[in-house]
Amino acid sequence: MNTIGVIGLGCVGLPAAVIFASRGKRVVGFDIDSQKVEMVNKGISYINEPGLDGLLKDVVNRGLLEATNDGSCVVENTDAVIITVPTPFKEGKTDLTYIESALNLVKCGLHDKQLIVIESTIPPGTTKTFVKYKLEETGLRVEEDFYLAHVPERIAPGKAIYELTNEPRIIGGVGPKSTERAYELYSTVNKKLYKTDATTAEFVKLIENTFRDLNIAYANLLALMADCLDVDVWEAIELANTHPRVNIHKPGPGVGGSCLTKDPYMLVYSVNDLFGKELILISRSINEFMPQYTVSLIEKVLQENNVPRKSKIAVLGVAYKGNIGDTRESPAIFIVKELLKKGYEVFTYDPYTRESFGAISTNSMEEAIMGAYVTIIVTDHEQFKEIDLGKLKDKMAKPIIIDCRHLIDLRKAKKLGFIYYGIGCKRCNKNDNTRSSGNKAGNN
Ligand SMILES: NC(=O)c1ccc[n+]([C@@H]2O[C@H](COP(=O)([O-])OP(=O)(O)OC[C@H]3O[C@@H](n4cnc5c(N)ncnc54)[C@H](O)[C@@H]3O)[C@@H](O)[C@H]2O)c1
Repeated sequence: MNTIGVIGLGCVGLPAAVIFASRGKRVVGFDIDSQKVEMVNKGISYINEPGLDGLLKDVVNRGLLEATNDGSCVVENTDAVIITVPTPFKEGKTDLTYIESALNLVKCGLHDKQLIVIESTIPPGTTKTFVKYKLEETGLRVEEDFYLAHVPERIAPGKAIYELTNEPRIIGGVGPKSTERAYELYSTVNKKLYKTDATTAEFVKLIENTFRDLNIAYANLLALMADCLDVDVWEAIELANTHPRVNIHKPGPGVGGSCLTKDPYMLVYSVNDLFGKELILISRSINEFMPQYTVSLIEKVLQENNVPRKSKIAVLGVAYKGNIGDTRESPAIFIVKELLKKGYEVFTYDPYTRESFGAISTNSMEEAIMGAYVTIIVTDHEQFKEIDLGKLKDKMAKPIIIDCRHLIDLRKAKKLGFIYYGIGCKRCNKNDNTRSSGNKAGNN
C-alpha cells in the first residue's frame, strides 16, 4: 500500500496525512474547505500541533503530500482511503451525514483490493452495518473485493505527532482480512497495534473517553461536596491519593474539547433502554454544570469583596485544557460570556490562542491583569504556574485570585496578602493551610 487518500484534513486528518507521507507514502488529501487545501499545498499548517509545521513543509516539498478539491483523486488512484470527517452528536443521535458524503465519494472510485478505514468516532456497529452496506451498494463485496476497518483516533490535541507514532492503536476490521490489511498499513507508522473487530474498536474508543469523563465528574462532585462541608477538596484528594489503589482526578471549571463532551452520549445512546445509563448521563451533567458553578463562585467573590459592576476582570486561559490553543467546548466560553452579560469588563490572555468570546484579548498577561479587580485562572497552562505573584499584586486594583485549576502557590499568595478562592476550596480562603500547591492527580 503505497498511495493513501485522506478525506477530511482537520485536527485528525492533517496530522495523519503528514505522518503517512513522512514514512514515504504518497498521500492525497481532500477537504471541502478549499482554504485548507490551498494552505496544505503551500506547506502551511492551520493546526497548532508541535512538530507538524516542519513535517508538513518537508512532505509537501518532497511531493509526498498533495491536497485537492477534487474528491475523485483520493479514491481512484489510491490503495487505501482514510476517512476523518466530523461526527457531531445532536439531539440524541450521531450525525453521520459527513461520513455518508465521504462514503458517496468512495463509492464512485472504490476498486479491487482497496482498504477503507474510518478513523472518525462512530457508534458501535456503524462500520459493520451502515458503512459496509453503503459501500456494498457498488456491487463489490467486503473481505472479497475490498477491505474495511475502523481504527479509532486517540490523539490528544497538542501531542498528535508524538502519539500517532508512539501510542497504541486499535485495529478493528469487519473481518480478518480487513484487520490484517489495516494492520499492514498502520504498522508503517506505529509498532504498538492491537487487533480486534470493528465493533469492539468503536466501543473501545467510546469507553476510554467516557471513563475519563466519569472520573473528572467524580472529582467535580467531590469539589461541590467539599464546598458544602467546608473541606478543602485539593487537600482531601491529595491525601486520598496516598492510598495505593486510589487515583482521583482533578476538579475544575468544567470539561471541554470536542471528544469528552460528546463521546459519553454516543456510547449511552448506542443501546436502547439501557439499565444504569444514568451513571454516564449524570456524570455528563455534573461536568456540564461546572462552568455555571464557577460563575456563581465568581459572583459571590465579587459581591463579598464589593467589586463594582463594570470593573475589569482578567481571565487567564480560554483553551479547554492546558498547553494547547483548542477552545472547542471550553468552559471559558460560558464563563466569559456570562461575565460580559453581567456588565464586567473582561480581558483575556491565553498564550496559545487569541480567541476571546467577545472579551478583549490581550497580548500579554501583564496587559490582562493591569488594573483588574479579580484574576481568574481558567486553564492549566504551564506558564500560569510561574506567575510572579508580587508583580501581579502590584498591577491589580485588588489582590483577588480565583484559581479554578489550583495552580498558584497558596502559601505564597497568602503571604503577599492575596484573597484566594478556588473550586472546592472555600476553606483555602479561611484557614492557614500547610499545602503549597496542587495535588498529583492527573486528568491528562
Ligand atoms: N480532534 C481530536 O482531538 C479528535 C480525537 C479523536 C477523535 N476525533 C474524531 O475524529 C473526527 C474528526 O475530528 P476533527 O477534530 O479532525 O474534526 P475537524 O472539524 O477538525 O476536521 C474535520 C475536517 O473534515 C472536513 N470535512 C467535512 N466534511 C467533509 C467531506 N464530506 N469531505 C471532505 N472533508 C470534509 C472539514 O472541512 C474539516 O476540515 C471526529 O469524528 C472526531 O470525533 C477527534
